[in-house]
Amino acid sequence: MTHPKIEHAQIHWNEAGTPVSDNFDDVYFSNANGLEETRYVFLQQNQLPERWLDFPRDRFVIAETGFGTGLNFLAVWQWFAKFRAENPQATVNQLHFISFEKFPVTQSDLEKAHAAWPELAEFAAGLREHYPAAVPGCHRLVLANGMITLDLWFGDIKDSMPQVWTPDDGIVDCWFLDGFAPSKNPEMWSQSLFDGMARLAKQDCTVATFTAAGFVRRGLIEAGFAMKKTKGFGTKRDMIVGTMAEHANAKQQVLGTSAPRRLTARISRSLAAVWRVPHWQCLWCAAAELSPCIVNMISRAWQHQATDKVPCILC
Ligand SMILES: C[S@@+](CC[C@H](N)C(=O)[O-])C[C@H]1O[C@@H](n2cnc3c(N)ncnc32)[C@H](O)[C@@H]1O
Repeated sequence: MTHPKIEHAQIHWNEAGTPVSDNFDDVYFSNANGLEETRYVFLQQNQLPERWLDFPRDRFVIAETGFGTGLNFLAVWQWFAKFRAENPQATVNQLHFISFEKFPVTQSDLEKAHAAWPELAEFAAGLREHYPAAVPGCHRLVLANGMITLDLWFGDIKDSMPQVWTPDDGIVDCWFLDGFAPSKNPEMWSQSLFDGMARLAKQDCTVATFTAAGFVRRGLIEAGFAMKKTKGFGTKRDMIVGTMAEHANAKQQVLGTSAPRRLTARISRSLAAVWRVPHWQCLWCAAAELSPCIVNMISRAWQHQATDKVPCILC
């Protein structure tokens, strides 16, 4: 079996000392304060570390688009280690971080980037010690005596993400939707990415991203996340955050992205929900509540008025 070749990231350093991708002509993180931006956008907006306090399972799973220098990973590892030290009685005791990377940063560029965050030095050294060669596929690193697991998928996320196995109720508790700006990397920011994120998300999974682009917000909503705008980091006006409110519906959405498949998914959701309606309500009216678009269309054809205000003759 042949795999597509993996190329290392081509990087130069700007006058602020920030790594800049030659592949995408964009910075890996803010010139102002990359670590604080990470903490604000990805950790705090996903309600970390607060959620860990009463998290009911022993393993908390974060997934990320674009590993880059590993800054997000190192920042969350640092907070998780602190959380465990301060809350040894907490149920959650393992952090599993899944990240996708198309152009792995070289060891020497990692070292140069990590030098900017002395407070992460101990974690960064641990990462670099086990950092894998640029070979396609999933590289699992077990760190900090098993407290941290890092699954690093090298390859394009569009090829890797479908390979991540998930049970029906999902595996991911929290998404870091990172990546270069949508305008610099339009290929990655696609509906199939958002649908794939929803496929892996557990019920109540949260998502945060630095961008407030309307098509990203709409795409995540289409995939099944409830999204809202919030204040961005520093001088940035907005960013968006959300929650997977209806995992069952999201699973239906990812049947496919074509219109007929979406229609099929919508009808099957409606039918599934119909079985849960009270027995005195007719199927027609139940379906009208659940799938107004389809039923209204048929209603118009049949002149059937299935609304709350006009009682149905069958109910
Ligand atoms: C802004 S950087 C991520 C920064 C990173 N989270 C960090 O903590 O340093 C975006 C990353 O996404 C990666 N990327 C871009 N398009 C991708 C794709 N289609 N599949 C996987 N990774 C991709 C880039 O190579 C880059 O490393």
